[in-house]
Amino acid sequence: MSSSQTKRPLQSLKSRALKGDIRVPGDKSISHRSLMFGGLAIGETKITGLLEGEDVLATAEAMRKLGATVNRDNDGTWHVTGVGVGALREPDSVIDMGNAGTGIRLMAGIVATHPITTFFTGDASLCKRPMGRVADPLAEFGAQFITRERGRPPMAVIGTDEAKPVTYTLPMASAQVKSAVLLAGLNTAGTTTVIEPKPSRDHTERMLRHFGVDVDVSINDDGGRTVSLTGPVEMKAADIVVPTDPSSAAFPLVAALINPESQVTIRDVCLNPLRTGLITTLIEMGGDITIANEREEAGETIGDLVVSGKNRLTGIVVPAERAPSMIDEYPVLAVAAAYAQGETRMCGLEELRVKESDRLAAVAAGLAANGIIHRIEGDDLIVTGGDVPGGGMVETHLDHRIAMSFLVLGLGANDPVAVDDANPIATSFPSFEALMRELGANLAPAGS
Ligand code: S3P
Repeated sequence: MSSSQTKRPLQSLKSRALKGDIRVPGDKSISHRSLMFGGLAIGETKITGLLEGEDVLATAEAMRKLGATVNRDNDGTWHVTGVGVGALREPDSVIDMGNAGTGIRLMAGIVATHPITTFFTGDASLCKRPMGRVADPLAEFGAQFITRERGRPPMAVIGTDEAKPVTYTLPMASAQVKSAVLLAGLNTAGTTTVIEPKPSRDHTERMLRHFGVDVDVSINDDGGRTVSLTGPVEMKAADIVVPTDPSSAAFPLVAALINPESQVTIRDVCLNPLRTGLITTLIEMGGDITIANEREEAGETIGDLVVSGKNRLTGIVVPAERAPSMIDEYPVLAVAAAYAQGETRMCGLEELRVKESDRLAAVAAGLAANGIIHRIEGDDLIVTGGDVPGGGMVETHLDHRIAMSFLVLGLGANDPVAVDDANPIATSFPSFEALMRELGANLAPAGS
């Protein structure tokens, strides 16, 4: 895993216009869920387009340790034979979830209502992240948790076989917490309900239905959602075609928008409406983005993004309500804002403080290192765009999206922009460097 490797500094330099037609890897959220749900279902699930990043490979290994059979064909198709809900085996060693917050939190939900004890650990970044947000509702089912101080992993989950159904109102907008509770509900007799004040990505709800689970979703008066399912359920194997990841597409997308001559097509991107906040925002900023070939596949909307850099971006106010639909995209939006005319205010970013790094602090430090005017007011980040000096070395703190965002920043900056470690990129987007170079990005090793 990246944390144990030697750091690999990388820099990006002012590049010619980006041109080309690319396909980014599979969606990380959907990839994790396809392995987990395949491992819980009866029968064989065939997965194509799986993201083969470190985070997802950690989930594959976790499901094997819990008894599922998980294999990969030479052509990249994955086959998962599940054990059935309720029949997971107690792992005989610690499960290492690497850098993956989604992995550890969703897995915690799954094992919480099985009569087994599971030990989880992760890399230095994951071992700083709060697990109390899942441990609290999962304890209501009857599971017990042992963590380090402030709910940090390593974490032991002592599951229960007498789970009581739970109704839980999310205190924060989090698809991970919502999913952990719903997954615990799969092996719980009775109805488990999650009330989310702001809708978050709904891949769990969609994919559970695909595996034959009856999931009830209603829209509340305040625009939030109530999601419920009644267990114990039996899940039936179902093939999955993983669409490509909009959170990975975000990097070539912004890179194309900041160079006036660029013309890039990004194929087969997942356009789930709860994931498209960045596209909406960049269009509001004046970005020339067209969606082509929009269609439905395996319960998700997908389409091609056709992007031209011909319009200069303009700063806007990005409302806090939009945050759940673009929560992973703020670092790269801050980069777009650095190139935009005027001020961009990104509101309501409190959740950024508990991502793979404290992303609010990491973004601010990266902007400062590269001479970009910005400030933090409460939970808002305000960036003033214009000339981008560059010339800084950015600390990535084991955060893939910090690394990729600042490499995008350097593509139009006066001086090169370096990141101290490009290794974390492999957690979510192993082909990032190759694809960006294919488009014309100038990336080169940097001195540490
Ligand atoms: C994810 C949910 C989001 C997101 C993460 C993936 C998921 O986290 O940041 O990258 O797959 O459910 P939160 O639930 O913490 O917002």
